[in-house]
Amino acid sequence: MSRIAYVNGQYVPHLDAAVHIEDRGYQFADGVYEVIPVVNNKLIGEEGHLDRLWRSMEELKMAEPMKRKPLEMVMREVLRQNGVENGLIYLQVTRGVAPRDHPFPRDAVSSLVMTAKKTSPEKAEAKAAKGVSIITVPDIRWARRDIKSVSLLPNVLAKQEAVEKGAYEAFQVDEEGFITEGSSTNAWIITQDGTLVTRPTGNDILAGITRADLLKLLEQKNYKVELRPFTVEELQNAREVFLTSSSSYVLPIVEVDGKPVGNGHPGSISNDLRGIFKDFMNN
Ligand code: PDD
Repeated sequence: MSRIAYVNGQYVPHLDAAVHIEDRGYQFADGVYEVIPVVNNKLIGEEGHLDRLWRSMEELKMAEPMKRKPLEMVMREVLRQNGVENGLIYLQVTRGVAPRDHPFPRDAVSSLVMTAKKTSPEKAEAKAAKGVSIITVPDIRWARRDIKSVSLLPNVLAKQEAVEKGAYEAFQVDEEGFITEGSSTNAWIITQDGTLVTRPTGNDILAGITRADLLKLLEQKNYKVELRPFTVEELQNAREVFLTSSSSYVLPIVEVDGKPVGNGHPGSISNDLRGIFKDFMNN
């Protein structure tokens, strides 16, 4: 089955899918996006992702490309045409095509693009069973990280540095020495006394949907959770470390800046949480 993309009202072969060179997403990174996981044909956290997409558009005063109901239908059609039962759907909205000039164009028509891709649950499980390593890098991003903007250059540079050092992800560190989040993930530690710690939402991190869903599950199951920033030192001395995101769910971290976390294997609490999150997605 060849891949199909949705581009401004049309379903086109992925290879030919294109937007104009004066699309503001291309010229100014004037766009927002979402990545939604698909598990057994179900869009996980769909409502939260679409709420966040609409919030990102509102914060940037960007016109919605279409109403929410038809957009939900387009997403399903994209999944169907691509035969994706397990994978990810990517949505991107930009302020549209206009002659290059910084102020918002007067009659901007937002562009909407969607793609879907299959992912391998087996590969994801193998990765989680081994755990991944991370590095820490300075957070050099702008002050509105709550907006899911396509302007991702600092995130790209952080991830590239991780890859060059043989790591999977980079946790970014603010000027006071606290972890903000990963380049495309939210950051968590479990302290020696078993308390889960993750940074509260605000302008300084993305309000992850996986993070929010996991917090709800933790509350139901009476885990001890603290919403507060944590330092690099706490990260290095944590009992367990893990990350959350739409593409990784709950992923144990076994090495930070070249040093093992605990005994260097995925911790039991992180493993339990991955199981709890998978049950949540499958129900
Ligand atoms: N990334 N923090 C950042 C900076 C992110 O880009 C993401 C998502 C997250 C996790 O959010 P969620 O649980 O809603 O996926 C946190 C997506 C997956 C991406 O860019 O591919």
